[in-house]
Amino acid sequence: MNKKAIITSALPYANGEIHLGHVASTYLPADVTTRFLKQNGVEAYYVCASDDFGTPILIQSEKQGKTPSDYVAHWNKRDFEDFSAFNIGFDYFYKTSSPENIEFVQDVFKKLNDSGHIYEQEIIQFYCKNDKKFLPDRYVKGICPYCKAEDQYSDLCESCGRVPEEITDPKCSLCGAPPTKEKTTHYFFKLKNFADSLSKWLEENEHLQKDVKKYVQNWIKSGLIDWDITRDISWGVPVPLDDAKGKVFYGWFDNHLAYISTALKFLNDKGIDGKEFWNSADIYHFIGKDIVYHHYLFLPAMRLGIDSEYKLPDYIPTRGHLTLESKKISKSRNWYIGLKEFLEYYPADYLRYYLISINPYSQDDLNFDWDDFTTRINSELIGNLGNFVNRALGFTKKAFDGKIPEIEPFDEKDTEAEQKIKSLSDDVGQLMEQNHIDRALKKIMEFSSFYNQYFQHKEPWKKGPGTANCVFLSVNAVRTIAISLSSFLPESAQKIWNQLGLDGKISDYAWNEMSELGIPSGYDLGEAYPLFARVEVSDVAKYKKQLGPSEK
Ligand code: MF3
Ligand code: ZN
Repeated sequence: MNKKAIITSALPYANGEIHLGHVASTYLPADVTTRFLKQNGVEAYYVCASDDFGTPILIQSEKQGKTPSDYVAHWNKRDFEDFSAFNIGFDYFYKTSSPENIEFVQDVFKKLNDSGHIYEQEIIQFYCKNDKKFLPDRYVKGICPYCKAEDQYSDLCESCGRVPEEITDPKCSLCGAPPTKEKTTHYFFKLKNFADSLSKWLEENEHLQKDVKKYVQNWIKSGLIDWDITRDISWGVPVPLDDAKGKVFYGWFDNHLAYISTALKFLNDKGIDGKEFWNSADIYHFIGKDIVYHHYLFLPAMRLGIDSEYKLPDYIPTRGHLTLESKKISKSRNWYIGLKEFLEYYPADYLRYYLISINPYSQDDLNFDWDDFTTRINSELIGNLGNFVNRALGFTKKAFDGKIPEIEPFDEKDTEAEQKIKSLSDDVGQLMEQNHIDRALKKIMEFSSFYNQYFQHKEPWKKGPGTANCVFLSVNAVRTIAISLSSFLPESAQKIWNQLGLDGKISDYAWNEMSELGIPSGYDLGEAYPLFARVEVSDVAKYKKQLGPSEK
């Protein structure tokens, strides 16, 4: 394992609240992975930033009568608060509109330009004579040429999900007047130059998911298209050329560069040489499958274009989208559940448990289902894990006044149980190294389930021979569970730790310490209390209405 890592997850647009869909496919898997790496002694940093530029944000801020910078500052703060409430443990959360990123983006552009990867081209753009503005992307609305839905943006039909070649009956989205077409000069990035070097990089990187790799390779074979990287709008990173006054970069030119500029800012402020760290670390970019194109082609091509001055990603864990009750999430149709709201009803760990459990390392979609959530929390998290922890600690409190008894020679069952404690760290660790967070969590649940059966089988409440060993091993198994769980369910793991009467922060304990029988005979436990409260079916019926999703 590389002893250094930088982890990022797709930067959230500073344009609305974080919902369950966001956290399921990127932030949560990235957080669990980072915590796991840290537990394994890796100097790992999870950095993120709000994605502040782009037409949709400018339009939204104009609608609300705010300056774009006030508007994004609001969402930057709010998003960070919501992530924190969910225990997404960013080491640093910054913004794409930071002075550091602006400078970095301009510098990268100059280098690409100097190396001949940029060219200018005149294009025809919609223009509004009333507003005296060019109207890129979302500034134009009209009828979708495919599905005929009215009032759709020119860059995306929200009704059929397609990107219209040319919208029918175009109107300026600000004043409603039909736009004219005017000439303007844009800058293009020669993505075509990189077909061979991208293929080579994809070929050689053995960490990338095979299926994603394959279809990206097919895109390359079918021919790459150069990329229009500028816009004639007032909100963005200014193009640093004298004859490009009033032009800014397209959001997708600058946003992923904030992975680097944010990491550099954070590391340099800590007194670490950021560039050297970046280039010697494993680089992870966690994303959802909708932005594969940007992360497997555009991002690496731009890094290749500056001679890999900053190394390309080692891992781009790509996951499918969350659907809600089997339907696609849509903010505009109100078919979503806000993260903040959800956490007002249930603890972060319930949601973490559920979203990790249903989260394969693949592009398959995952589905949030209220009934499934209820069942899994009640029967798995509470019925299995919570039950075992409470049984083991509660019984020790009651029968031994919380003091671990002296052990006797182990019988066959005890030896098997001891072996489980010894092997869990490898079993779970291997799955984590392969990014299978769902299977890794399942292994921990199997461990707990084994111990429930062991406890049941030993019947310690009868106080017969073997009781002391059962108590000793079960309490140690609880300790093992706490350490193994701490990357997945940090709050619950800490609670278990406290109930065991152990000191300090659970996250400070190394991954392989879970293999030890760390709690000796004679040791005094802390207070035992139930870890979790059941999810009531009647509550869920109520929350379903209050929280949504509920279609408008
Ligand atoms: N804001 C983008 C989105 O939500 C993701 C940006 S990821 C980065 O689709 F690579 F650009 F940073
Ligand atoms: Zn107009």
